[in-house]
Amino acid sequence: MSASAKNSPQGLSTRLAHAGRSPEAHDGFVNPPVVHASTVLFPDTETMITGKQKYHYARRGNPTTDSLEDALCELEGAAGVKLASSGLNAISVALLSCLSAGDHLLVTDSAYAPTRHLCETTLRRLGIEVDYFDPTVGAGISALFRPNTRAIMTEAPGSLTFEMQDIPAIVAAARTIDAFVLMDNTWATPCFFRPLDHGVDLSIQAGTKYIVGHSDAMLGTVAAGPRAWERLEETHGALGMHVAPDDVFLGLRGLRTMKVRLDRHMESALTVASWLQQRPEVARVRYPALADDLGHELWRRDFTGASGLFAFDFVEGTSDEAARAFLDALSLFGLGYSWGGFESLAIPVRLKGARSATPLPEGGPSIRLHIGLEDVADIQTDLEAGFAALRG
Ligand SMILES: Cc1ncc(COP(=O)(O)O)c(C=O)c1O
Repeated sequence: MSASAKNSPQGLSTRLAHAGRSPEAHDGFVNPPVVHASTVLFPDTETMITGKQKYHYARRGNPTTDSLEDALCELEGAAGVKLASSGLNAISVALLSCLSAGDHLLVTDSAYAPTRHLCETTLRRLGIEVDYFDPTVGAGISALFRPNTRAIMTEAPGSLTFEMQDIPAIVAAARTIDAFVLMDNTWATPCFFRPLDHGVDLSIQAGTKYIVGHSDAMLGTVAAGPRAWERLEETHGALGMHVAPDDVFLGLRGLRTMKVRLDRHMESALTVASWLQQRPEVARVRYPALADDLGHELWRRDFTGASGLFAFDFVEGTSDEAARAFLDALSLFGLGYSWGGFESLAIPVRLKGARSATPLPEGGPSIRLHIGLEDVADIQTDLEAGFAALRG
């Protein structure tokens, strides 16, 4: 559903606690009902034919989905929000909503790998031309414009290599050719960066990560600015997209504590990242919140916080076997894809085939960490065990 953009004077944590809830509409219960439904009944044929009733069929929404969409609308300052069954599903509906056959799409070279896969398979098959750009291109993106450039897909920072992007500069360039700008903002979440305030047209969240926050559901969200909302709503409906009410409920529940969790993720991640910078085994930590990170100035200018996800590179000469020994010695950190839950996770960064416009980073093997909500001293002890195994 659509809701007008609201800029409440209340603080973020207050709004997260109250957005999208109307206890008085549900007999005073704090949370909205979890509506399991398909059919909606009409009182008479007149109402059915004229459609003068709020809900018609559950695929197009119900009080549970409305509650999460309304809350996100407020949080993102959006013209409207649509839910998707996963983060990747949110990316695909957002791209399909603004592209047609013959259009040209520009995608950051640092994009989440399945986003690239979507572009290289389905979008190309539908006749969409795709080019990739250096994530640090900034205003220089205009040099890549073609007469048919219709959309620019950004993601900041990149989810494996953590380059920041100059979103306002890209938006300003896009405006000169009336192209849509999309942003995968899963890392910062709308708590730490509100893309629509910076002129982005479609702000995407893998809600699976920090919104749900407990590694127990898949979810995607797309928040649209005024230029993009009509197309998003139409495409979402045409594709028959729907999210199961129990997963929407888990999204709503996670949303209430998202800022508190993110603050802790950031505090611990900063401590661990700075500690890793001092380790002799580590050549570089990739985390824009660190003062000497290449993207730090952009991060400081545009973002108000950082999440718990970053990567570090071992010093040159470290073998892949040693990096594996490091990972296998971890016991608190799980080896698992995804992130944004309460638990710490680690993966080896594998970039083969994931770059085409910029060179692969050189140096030792890289590890991506998600710093969870455990005690930071325990997180460091676990990493110490990894370093001990690395040294053999
Ligand atoms: C940056 C980013 N965007 C999107 C996604 C996709 O989310 P989902 O796994 O919910 O499809 C992920 C998942 O890892 C991600 O890291």
